[in-house]
Amino acid sequence: DSERLKDIFADSYHIGVAVNARQVNSSDEKVNTLIAEHFNSLSPENGLKWERVHPELNRYDFRFGDEYVALGEKIGAFTIGHCLVWHQQTPRWVFQDENNEPLSKDALISRMEEHIEAVAGRYKGKIHGWDVVNEAFNEDGSFRESNWYKVAGKDFMKAAFRKAHEVDPEAELYYNDYNVWNAAKRKGILDFAKEMVAEGIQVDAIGMQGHYQLDTPTLEQIEQGIIDIHEAGFKVMVTELDVDVLPRPRRAVGADLNMNFANSDEYNPYKDGITAEGEAKLAARYAEIFEIYEKHKDKITRVTFWGLGDGNSWLNNFPVRGRTNYPLLFDRNLEPKTEVIEKI
Ligand code: XIL
Repeated sequence: DSERLKDIFADSYHIGVAVNARQVNSSDEKVNTLIAEHFNSLSPENGLKWERVHPELNRYDFRFGDEYVALGEKIGAFTIGHCLVWHQQTPRWVFQDENNEPLSKDALISRMEEHIEAVAGRYKGKIHGWDVVNEAFNEDGSFRESNWYKVAGKDFMKAAFRKAHEVDPEAELYYNDYNVWNAAKRKGILDFAKEMVAEGIQVDAIGMQGHYQLDTPTLEQIEQGIIDIHEAGFKVMVTELDVDVLPRPRRAVGADLNMNFANSDEYNPYKDGITAEGEAKLAARYAEIFEIYEKHKDKITRVTFWGLGDGNSWLNNFPVRGRTNYPLLFDRNLEPKTEVIEKI
C-alpha cells in the first residue's frame, strides 16, 4: 500500500486532482476511495467550462457542478472552479447577438458578467478558488487575439476579476496559463496582474498549468517561474500537472489533428504497455520536478494533477489523437505507480 499523496505533502501544499463527469458521481468504489484518500483539492476537468455549464443563451446546466461541489464537501476538499472566461470550449453564440452579428464591447462584457454571476454565485462558499481567466496571453507576452480581446480589449480581464470578487468576496481568484515557465510570456502575465492589483482588483495566485514533457521545460525554467510569481506578490499554484512520455510529433506531422496516431510506432511507442525504461524516465522527471516544488513549498499552495489515472488523461488525445500515454501517478487500473510515487 503506497502512502497517501495528501499525507506525503501535508506540510507543503494541497494535492489536487481534476475529475470528470463519471468520477464526480461514481459507482466504482475504487474511484471514490482513491479520490478521497489521496487528494485534498479538486478541479473540474471540463464540467464547469462555459460550453458545459452555459451551453445556450439563458440555459445553464448545473448537473455536473452540483455533484462536483457535493463531492468536494464530502471529502473536505479545497474545491476549485475552472474556468470562468476562456477562448476555448466557449460556444460561438457567446460573442454574437440574435442576428449572429458580433456583440459590442458593452454587450459582451455584460454577458460575461452575467455568466460569472450565475456560475460563481451558485457555488458561492462551495468553490474556494476560481480560475477566473484562462490562457489570455501569447508566448511573447502580448495579449492573445481571442474573441474576448478582439471585442473588449484588456478590460475583459479586469471586468472578469472584478465581477468574480463582487459575486464571491471570500473566493480566491486566479489567472491560469500554460508555459508560464517561458520568461517572455510570464512577464506579460505578471505585468498585467500587477496592473490589476494596483487598480485594486483582487488576484490571489497565478496558476502554472504544468503540462510538461520528459525534457521540456528545464528545471531552471520551472524554478524561475515560481520565484518570479512569488516576487510579483502572488501565490503559485501548479494547476494541471502531467508529464507526456511520448515523443512530440513535429509540427508538420501534428498538422493533421484528426489523424489517429494509434498505430504509429514512432509516435505511439508504448501501445502495449510502458517499458521499465519509460517508467523510470517518468519517475525521474516527477522526482526532479517535485524536488523544485519542495524547495519552494513556502511559495506554492497547491499542486493539482490533470486527471486521476492514465486512462483518463487528455494526453491520450493531445496533441494528436489515439495514443496510449502514461502521464500520471495512477495507471489504467487506477493502481498507484509505486516506483514513481516513492521517488517524489
Ligand atoms: C482539457 C481537457 O482535459 C480535455 O478533456 C478537453 O477535451 C480539452 O481541455 N488547459 C486547460 C484545460 O486549461 O482546461 C484543458 O483541459 C487542458 C489545457
